[in-house]
Amino acid sequence: MPNLTNKIALVTGGGRGIGAATVRKLAEAGATVVVNDLDAEEAEAVAASIPAGMAHVADLTDPTAADTLVAAAIDTYGGLDIVVNNAGYIWHSAIHNMTDEQWDAMLDIHASAQFRVLRAYGRWLRGNADQASPMRKVVNISSTMGLHGGPTQLAYAAGKAAVVGITRTLAKEWGRFNVSVNAVAFGAIETRLTSPYEKEPNISIVKGQPRKVGLSTQQLEQAKQASPLARLGTAEDAANAIYLMCIPESDWITGEVILASGGVRS
Ligand SMILES: NC(=O)c1ccc[n+]([C@@H]2O[C@H](COP(=O)([O-])OP(=O)(O)OC[C@H]3O[C@@H](n4cnc5c(N)ncnc54)[C@H](O)[C@@H]3O)[C@@H](O)[C@H]2O)c1
Repeated sequence: MPNLTNKIALVTGGGRGIGAATVRKLAEAGATVVVNDLDAEEAEAVAASIPAGMAHVADLTDPTAADTLVAAAIDTYGGLDIVVNNAGYIWHSAIHNMTDEQWDAMLDIHASAQFRVLRAYGRWLRGNADQASPMRKVVNISSTMGLHGGPTQLAYAAGKAAVVGITRTLAKEWGRFNVSVNAVAFGAIETRLTSPYEKEPNISIVKGQPRKVGLSTQQLEQAKQASPLARLGTAEDAANAIYLMCIPESDWITGEVILASGGVRS
């Protein structure tokens, strides 16, 4: 039975992977979904695949993009009930090879972009929500890397750790607007971010630039062995965990980091 009917949701990075699966899951439950992505073709295809919603193509590392995105959702649908801060990518490097550009890029998309989306949302909440408002939901996407770290993921791990601080702080600030704010930290999920390679990392084109992504087949095998469930997560597994934080049954959970890692705890 759909339980998100009449809810307006925004999913950043909704054109692929976990974001796309989340858009479909929320839409299946009855939500109208604004699908943000950097890549127009992907965002538009996902938006066209759901009963109600629209694509909003924008690069969230553009400092003006978050305000425009949140305003577009609210102006089009008259409000915003669910925000899933999912857009992100990985750019591997050991610290001795890491450039300032790499460090800044990871903090920019994982910490600053979430901050700006939430700041825009917070400004709207101040004039439009109070303790008696219907429950609203924010779900910020973190990673086991942000909790436990991992080799070659210094800047990514720092960005994903920032998500935890953002989440716990806003849970305290936004209770008065009746908004729950949680993070979901994923272990390895099968998307292009973790696509398998034998010798050299795969290349993703992000903002027109080649970025090393993926996990070696050996790393993937280790990740499977580390899970009591002996497999990697699927994008649908990940979307299901996000969905749990969006439905009324999770209303009493706020300020938490939900680990969705198939039982991997390190
Ligand atoms: N796949 C995993 O194993 C895993 C594990 C932990 C956390 N995560 C996190 O989950 C989120 C989704 O990752 P995924 O695995 O689905 O990757 P993905 O590459 O399949 O999808 C990410 C989407 O975000 C979009 N995006 C990237 N930068 C953007 C920007 N500046 N503005 C707007 N959109 C942008 C991309 O275009 C892409 O469509 C990311 O935040 C990632 O860090 C993934």
